[in-house]
Amino acid sequence: MKIFEKQSNLIDYISKLKAEGKKIGFVPTMGALHQGHLSLIKQSNAFAENMVTVSSIFVNPTQFNDKKDFEKYPITLDADLEQLMHGNCAIVFLPTVEEIYPKGFENKENVDLGFIGTTLDAAHRPGHFEGVIQVVKILLDIVGPDFLFLGQKDFQQCMVIKKLVEHFNFSTEVIICPTKREESGLAMSSRNMRLTQNERAIAANLYKVMNAIKSDFSSLKPQEWKSKQLEKLQEIPEITTEYLEIVNGATLEPINDWHDAKSAVILIAAKIGQVRLIDNLIIY
Ligand code: PAF
Repeated sequence: MKIFEKQSNLIDYISKLKAEGKKIGFVPTMGALHQGHLSLIKQSNAFAENMVTVSSIFVNPTQFNDKKDFEKYPITLDADLEQLMHGNCAIVFLPTVEEIYPKGFENKENVDLGFIGTTLDAAHRPGHFEGVIQVVKILLDIVGPDFLFLGQKDFQQCMVIKKLVEHFNFSTEVIICPTKREESGLAMSSRNMRLTQNERAIAANLYKVMNAIKSDFSSLKPQEWKSKQLEKLQEIPEITTEYLEIVNGATLEPINDWHDAKSAVILIAAKIGQVRLIDNLIIY
């Protein structure tokens, strides 16, 4: 496994690989890796002939709207590298903040996200997606991947990054991979490392309330389900729900009737103690 800290060295290396006919799969991460990340590496490696998988580990300061959240973000670099090596990741990009932002944090890209840029996490984490767009644009410029592998757990982020790819005409295909879950249903997330054993068990309720909707969705209207499941969550004192929405999977607009959308998705964000988690479930 090759590790690069300087973008110029990585760019040279990747251009040689491309000249040899290799395809580049890219898995950007903020480290604190878990099985979800490793499944993205696996899917990248297996995606096409001649795939070379590049992963980056960079905790991007500009996407944290909450300074404390940034400071507490788990860092497990040695374990991450070990896992990437065992997962057959060929290349790791480990830049410093100066390497990514030599001119400081100011230069944000202007990508019109429409409604997607105003709802759910965009409303609850002001500036978050602007930071994601800023760093992903820089990473795509450096890596120039043929395929970009993202986890469905970050449903809205996937939509934002697809818009970014379109906006800048990157010749990169975005591949969204299914969410990896614990046996309890809890979606795997780097933030789970900050949960106690008890909080982990409680956090599984986020999946349970979504799954209850999915398994019997047509018995109630979307907004009735929303109220019912919000009440359920309110009964659990350790959970503070930020949102639970049932939306059109293509636009993120809330739906009032199941016939209103070709695809319906439940999205949820909640704090378990101090830790903010997000999850989603595609109903159809
Ligand atoms: O999903 C993440 O880990 C991050 O938002 C990403 C895409 C690596 C950008 O920092």
